[in-house]
Amino acid sequence: MVTSGKDAPLIVLGIETSCDETAASVVRRAADGRGEILSSVVRSQLDLHAAYGGVVPEIAARAHVELLDAAIGQALAEAGLGFAAIDAVAATAGPGLVGGLIVGLTTAKAIALGLGRPFIAVNHLEAHALTAGLTDQLAFPYLLLLVSGGHTQLLIVKDVGSYERLGTTLDDALGEAFDKAAKLLGLGYPGGPEVESRALRGRSTIALPRPMLGRPEPHFSLAGLKTALRHAVLARSPLGEQDIADLCASFQEAVADIVSDRTAHAMDIYVERLGRHAQLALVVAGGVAANKRLKAALEATARAHGFRLVVPPPELCTDNAAMIAWAGAMRLARGLVDDVSAPVRARWPLDPDAPPALGAGVKA
Ligand code: KG4
Ligand code: ZN
Repeated sequence: MVTSGKDAPLIVLGIETSCDETAASVVRRAADGRGEILSSVVRSQLDLHAAYGGVVPEIAARAHVELLDAAIGQALAEAGLGFAAIDAVAATAGPGLVGGLIVGLTTAKAIALGLGRPFIAVNHLEAHALTAGLTDQLAFPYLLLLVSGGHTQLLIVKDVGSYERLGTTLDDALGEAFDKAAKLLGLGYPGGPEVESRALRGRSTIALPRPMLGRPEPHFSLAGLKTALRHAVLARSPLGEQDIADLCASFQEAVADIVSDRTAHAMDIYVERLGRHAQLALVVAGGVAANKRLKAALEATARAHGFRLVVPPPELCTDNAAMIAWAGAMRLARGLVDDVSAPVRARWPLDPDAPPALGAGVKA
């Protein structure tokens, strides 16, 4: 992280309600730019959505209303602080499910107005992008692989608020692909951890495609892999435990190959653009970054390209409010605060100038 050394310590309350986690956190940014999590409360709504195999927006919004106040109270209590100690309030303003975003954003604005402190509208993707700086001494610029349930992107992170998108997915996000694979195999939601644990008992013996491999632009496409998996499942049904484990291992291996190849291309482009500057770093963020097989594959690829791999701890990879508070603190330290008229944004690309990638359901 870039540190100026001359700014004052800041304590920020962060609120996250963009999907199915109701989260609140208090983070301290020291004068030297180092971060410290004073509390991080995550109330998962998983049990409310599990029966539907995915997040139901209306159920999520209602649950945020019911859970958020208590989550904020707990975050303050665990930090040992009252509202008066808070220097600013940050909340996710997008991208995400609008109903949930409104709950968090309105609550944050009300607290900020009541306290007479700044309010910061945080981009959820920027929060994922900056999280690594909370636990790791990390200087800008760096290459970011953002892999979550809704997003799959390779970006150059130049500074707070300054991003260049190199690659995106033409169809499914990586986490979504894990979730759909798990559903095909009759496993629970979210699918990533289920597929990963089953894969440990399986062998990667089933041939599955690796779409986009070798293509110069580091985009992803995962729909074909999902279709091939469906055919492999149908060909083996009814599935035994070993079939499921082997299918999981084969799917995960295909994903690891795809991600390694796409990221390798992005590293080449990064070096072409920025040169071999000191401390080249590949940062992985988002829920899928918790996958150990993927991490091992990326470790090898990063090393081969002279990049250091930085992966935040798993509880900071999946959705949480510490990353929102931290992004808020970094923005606040640069004087980037928002008006209470700041709107929620269902879509909010980090690089608005990125050319559209051609595909069925491109997620910018
Ligand atoms: O970042 P996140 O918590 O929420 C979003 O913003 O989407 O990511 C959730 C996604 C889900 O699709 C989940 O299946 C995936 O991350 N995930 C994993 C693992 N843990 C979570 N995917 C693969 N392996 C894992 N261990
Ligand atoms: Zn996320």
